[in-house]
Amino acid sequence: MADLFDNPMGLDGFEFIEFAAKEKGILEPVLDILGFTHVANHRSKDVTLWRQGGINFVVNYEKKHPSAYYAEEHGPSACGMGFRVKDAPKAYARALELGAQPVDVPTGPMQLRLPAIRGIGGAILYLIDRYEEGASIYDIDFEFIDGVDRHPEGCGFEIIDHLTHNVYRGRMAYWADYYEKLFNFREIRYFDIKGEYTGLTSKAMTAPDGKIRIPLNEEAGSNGQIEEFLMAYNGEGIQHIAFSCDDLLGCWDRLKARGMRFMTPPPETYYEMLEERLPGHGEPVDELKKRGILMDGSTEAGDPRLLLQIFSENLVGPIFFEFIQRKKDEGFGEGNFKALFESMERDQIRRGVLKTEEEA
Ligand SMILES: [Fe+2]
Repeated sequence: MADLFDNPMGLDGFEFIEFAAKEKGILEPVLDILGFTHVANHRSKDVTLWRQGGINFVVNYEKKHPSAYYAEEHGPSACGMGFRVKDAPKAYARALELGAQPVDVPTGPMQLRLPAIRGIGGAILYLIDRYEEGASIYDIDFEFIDGVDRHPEGCGFEIIDHLTHNVYRGRMAYWADYYEKLFNFREIRYFDIKGEYTGLTSKAMTAPDGKIRIPLNEEAGSNGQIEEFLMAYNGEGIQHIAFSCDDLLGCWDRLKARGMRFMTPPPETYYEMLEERLPGHGEPVDELKKRGILMDGSTEAGDPRLLLQIFSENLVGPIFFEFIQRKKDEGFGEGNFKALFESMERDQIRRGVLKTEEEA
């Protein structure tokens, strides 16, 4: 994919997400139901690599490591992420020059030194330039487990589509500026989402490579879902991790078979309203409804641009996962917030809980 705009760090997608917890046995069952396979172990550290499709998850149990301090503060968490860059030492030097804080990642003898800077909420942002198959950081520092496929298909997810972060009220501009200044991200979408009682503001930051997308959420009222997350997580951080695939119905079936717990499905009225919301969408509504999959996008001028999406329950502390299939829509499902709200109202009207103006 050609760069969308000037790419001073040579960004090229997400390389990995790093997880940490104080005790073992909490993260592993979650990775398993998500479809990940434990494929390799670090040669000398208490660190494992889990994979599905092109997605790498690193689980770090090293003591006296930035990830351990992070887990001490946040519990089971996504303590870091790796961005692919063209030249890591150069990108690191540039980041520090622009005011980024260095993170001292302990390195053993004969191990790669991974340059890292402080990210949102103190999380670790690694800059990785070795990601070519055969010469990657895993090929050098990890040992692959015998007899285990190095690239398991899992449930069928191929890439990390976006990582949505929750930040404290009033902090969105600061973090948007961080990504703009260091990596030349741009704000692609901005929206306010209002429920009946609470609301949130979201700013979707996109990297120049078009592959790294970081929506930032901020509470718009008080006591809403962002506030609740910040309290539960003890700080700012990744709210949800979205994977994309080309066949969400099939992926959903595989997740279900592994025991995935999805969010509460929308009321039936949501599916009844799909045709009026997205006329001529051409998707199998019964199949979507059976699984609780949501749909967003547009169908203007007979050109359906759709996004299929579904969310898990909270699985790593308050962090949840999102599973999506993009059919030309580049949004994040903004239309679903309104649609879900309206379908719940319509359901309330049908049950007689809510009176319409004519009836009142
Ligand atoms: Fe999302």
